[in-house]
Amino acid sequence: MTEHTLFRGARVVDPASGRDGTIDVLIEGGTVAAVGGGTERRGATVLDCRGLVLAPGLVDLHAHLRQPGREDKETVETGSRAAAVGGYTAVAAMANTDPVADNAAVIEEVRSLAARAGLCDVFPVGAITKGLGGEEMAEVGEMAQAGVRVFSDDGRCIPSARVLRNALRYARAFDVVIAEHCEDASLSEGAQMHEGLHSSTLGLAGAPAEAEEVAVFRDLALARLTGGRLHLCHLSAAGSVELVRLAKASGLRVTAEVTPHHLAFSDEDLVTYDTNFKVNPPLRTVEDRDALRAAVADGTIDAIATDHAPHAVEEKEAEFDQSPPGTIGLETALAAVLTNLVEPGLISLSRTIEAMSATPATILGAAEHGGPIEPGRPANLVAFDPAADWLVQAPFASRSRNSAFLGKRLRGKVIHTMYRGQLVVADGKAQR
Ligand code: DOR
Ligand code: ZN
Repeated sequence: MTEHTLFRGARVVDPASGRDGTIDVLIEGGTVAAVGGGTERRGATVLDCRGLVLAPGLVDLHAHLRQPGREDKETVETGSRAAAVGGYTAVAAMANTDPVADNAAVIEEVRSLAARAGLCDVFPVGAITKGLGGEEMAEVGEMAQAGVRVFSDDGRCIPSARVLRNALRYARAFDVVIAEHCEDASLSEGAQMHEGLHSSTLGLAGAPAEAEEVAVFRDLALARLTGGRLHLCHLSAAGSVELVRLAKASGLRVTAEVTPHHLAFSDEDLVTYDTNFKVNPPLRTVEDRDALRAAVADGTIDAIATDHAPHAVEEKEAEFDQSPPGTIGLETALAAVLTNLVEPGLISLSRTIEAMSATPATILGAAEHGGPIEPGRPANLVAFDPAADWLVQAPFASRSRNSAFLGKRLRGKVIHTMYRGQLVVADGKAQR
């Protein structure tokens, strides 16, 4: 007999179908069997979801799962579990592993690790250049053939405009996306944080917002020249947002993402020298943060992506200038957005789900994710309590605990995550 699960009484927020209202959803096997009427089934497992929001499972365009190579920080399995706990059913795994995911063999290795873990779908991102060296093109055709949809040298910006131009030409030919980490290294070299009032006070070397903006400008120009699909990773500066706004208004097909930490924090938070706030791109001013929030609200920024970047305790406990940039984010992303954008009334729940599920699913080509929640669709879902107040603290499902949100109270907690019809998280706890 097929297993049935009934989500009863939840507010279903599903931007792909335009639905926002209280309705029951019945799952049979791995798919949605019924929405609304006729959802009763004898023997179904009934989940009382009154007070909860039910939405398509979240989709992360940008996570560092560290396998192969740095299994002490994270593995595909522990990263997948962190994703599930955070309400994600699909995650794009960045290519800056060791070895780098610059050929189909590494891509297949990550996929098989993900299949074995069975906690969410993992979409390996392919590197643009061999070894992230920035010069020689990686096996883009081979990886595209193997189904890779997003290519990125993230962690680094492609230094050469000529190489990026070439990559964008490939992107057009293979119908894939180039995701750029926008940073002019000649302006950011040695930087520990954003360059401004706070970097002078703290005595830390800074990188100006222009380090990002000049790369964004160059990349938009090359996207226009080539017609290749460009996605801009983790934008941090108001000036970058303005450039994207202009590019979109002129008809360029570009997409952009922002992280929950850039939406929540600013360079003021570095006064404690807490290395969990050391991220790349750096946290910028309160004005930048507010411009990023407004850009999510008006759609200039399409997606919210975690840039989940696990690092070892001993690395993060090193001197500030020795510590690697990055914060983990999969387990706190939804709550960070609910707390900082939805609570103050800047965006709706529907816009939240659009930016964290429907739109990233489209960019990633993850057709089984992002909704709509309709009969026959794969059952990849998240149920969360938008009102629950909780304290972010270790242990995490992630193997690392370098969270910028550590010790903060957030509102909004993931209760159930359903991946392919299986409850991988139930009552807030990972089931395997
Ligand atoms: O903060 C960051 N951490 N930014 C990046 O671009 C890379 C990432 C990492 O891999 O740790
Ligand atoms: Zn990056």
